[in-house]
Amino acid sequence: MRYLILSDIHSNHEALSAVLKHVRRKRWDKVVFLGDLVGYGANPNQTVDMLRKLRPLVGIRGNHDKVCSGLESGEMFNRVALEAAMWTRRKLTRSNLLWLKALPKGPAIVDQSFAISHGTPVDEDAYIFGEIEALNVFRRTPHEVCFFGHSHFPVIFALSPDAITTVLTVAPAFRYKLQPGVRYLINPGSIGQPRDGNPLASFAIYDSDAPAVTIYRIAYRVAEAQSKILKAGLPRPLADRLALGR
Ligand SMILES: [Fe+2]
Repeated sequence: MRYLILSDIHSNHEALSAVLKHVRRKRWDKVVFLGDLVGYGANPNQTVDMLRKLRPLVGIRGNHDKVCSGLESGEMFNRVALEAAMWTRRKLTRSNLLWLKALPKGPAIVDQSFAISHGTPVDEDAYIFGEIEALNVFRRTPHEVCFFGHSHFPVIFALSPDAITTVLTVAPAFRYKLQPGVRYLINPGSIGQPRDGNPLASFAIYDSDAPAVTIYRIAYRVAEAQSKILKAGLPRPLADRLALGR
């Protein structure tokens, strides 16, 4: 089975459109979404509509989905994130707001094969930035393969019986073969707001039969997404960071 793994889209219609156009000629069976469909960008309804059309879909909520749909107040958000979330809440159609609100809390198990979480499978709002956090998650969970999002950069943590290693990808398409006896925490990166210093949209395809994961980086119309953010009256830093990838 081949899974298209999407995360942290953040209302960026240009980036999601480019990703879906790019994968049109690739074979994939199911879409898996790791949360944060909305928040930050200027096209919340368009991105929710696009994802809703992708079936079959396994999806979980992110912290921005919770605040934008009114499940949480956003008191932990910084000023820019909160302003964007409140704007998004006002813009969402009732149908899309209810759909976002109903996204299940992670972790979820996909096809009895692998796990997905937004932050970590222990705490949906916690971050995995480095090996110490990854090691703590490995110790507290049973999953052999778990995909996660939230930190907005693509990375693979691999736990063998005697060491943990980090793989940071820099290629436009990076295929990584999974080994037996090794456990993995894999972040496909962010589609709508990458934060690894590379502005290209990031996503993954996981082939569970190989097994192997490929992380892709693709260009999209950043200037268009930026001008929509400014036209909507959203905070300028949200537009600026898209060009910087951080
Ligand atoms: Fe996010």
